[in-house]
Amino acid sequence: MATLPRYSNAQILLHWLTAPLVILIISLPYFEDFFSGLLGSGADVFTLHKSLGITVLALTVIRLMIRFKHGSPALLPPNAVLQQKLAKLGHAVLYALLFLMPITGLIFSARPVNYFWLFSFGPLPLPEALRSAAKQVHVTVQYAFILLILGHASMAIWHYVARRDRVLPGMLPLIKD
Ligand code: HEM
Ligand code: HEM
Repeated sequence: MATLPRYSNAQILLHWLTAPLVILIISLPYFEDFFSGLLGSGADVFTLHKSLGITVLALTVIRLMIRFKHGSPALLPPNAVLQQKLAKLGHAVLYALLFLMPITGLIFSARPVNYFWLFSFGPLPLPEALRSAAKQVHVTVQYAFILLILGHASMAIWHYVARRDRVLPGMLPLIKD
C-alpha cells in the first residue's frame, strides 16, 4: 500500500516545538505584568523572551537544513497550482520572519543577553544607527508575523474542516494513514 505524503518525524517535531515557543515569545512582552508575577521581574520576562527567541533561531537553522536535504511533501493536489504557489510563498515568508525577528532582537539589544540565566554574551559591537533600525524592524514586523501566523493556522484548520484533505494530517504526529 502506498504511504500518503507527510513531513518527516524530525520536521513535525521541529514545527510543533517552534509553534508554541513563538506564541509564548510574542505573549511575554504583551502580558509582561502577568509573567513578571510568575518569574519575579520584568527583566526576567525579557531574559526568557530573548532566550526562547535565540532557541527558535537555532531550531529554524536545523529545520531549514533538514528541508534543503529532504524537501517537503506534496500535500496539495497536483492541479492546485495557485494554492501550491501561495502556500510556498507563505511558508517562505514564515521562515524569513523566523530568522528576522531573533536576528533583529540580537542586533538591537544594547545590554548583555542572558541565556536562560546560564551565561551572558554581548551586546554585539554595532553602531547605534543599526541598533535603532533593527529595533524599528523588530517592533514593526511583529504585526506582519502575527497576522501571517493567524492566517497560516486558519488555512490549516480550514483544510482540515472544510476540504478534509491531507494538509493538516501531513504535519501531525501520531496520525496513522
Ligand atoms: C522568534 C523570535 C522573536 C519574536 C517573535 C519577538 C517578538 C517580539 C515582540 C512581539 C515584541 C513586543 C514589541 C512591542 O513592544 O510592541 C518584542 C520586544 C522585544 N524583543 Fe523580541 N522577539 C523575538 C526574539 C527576540 C530576541 C532574540 C531578542 C534579543 C536577543 C529580543 C529582544 C526584544 C526586546 C529587548 C524587546 C523590547 C522592545 C522594546 O523596548 O519595546 N527579541 N519582541
Ligand atoms: C507560531 C506558529 C507557527 C509557525 C511559525 C509555523 C510555521 C510553519 C512553516 C515555516 C511551515 C512550512 C514547513 C516547510 O515546508 O518546511 C509550516 C507548515 C505547516 N504548518 Fe505551521 N506554523 C505555525 C503554527 C501552525 C499551526 C497552529 C498549525 C495548525 C493549526 C500549523 C499547521 C501547519 C501545516 C498543516 C503545515 C504544512 C502545510 C503544507 O505543507 O502545505 N502551523 N508551518
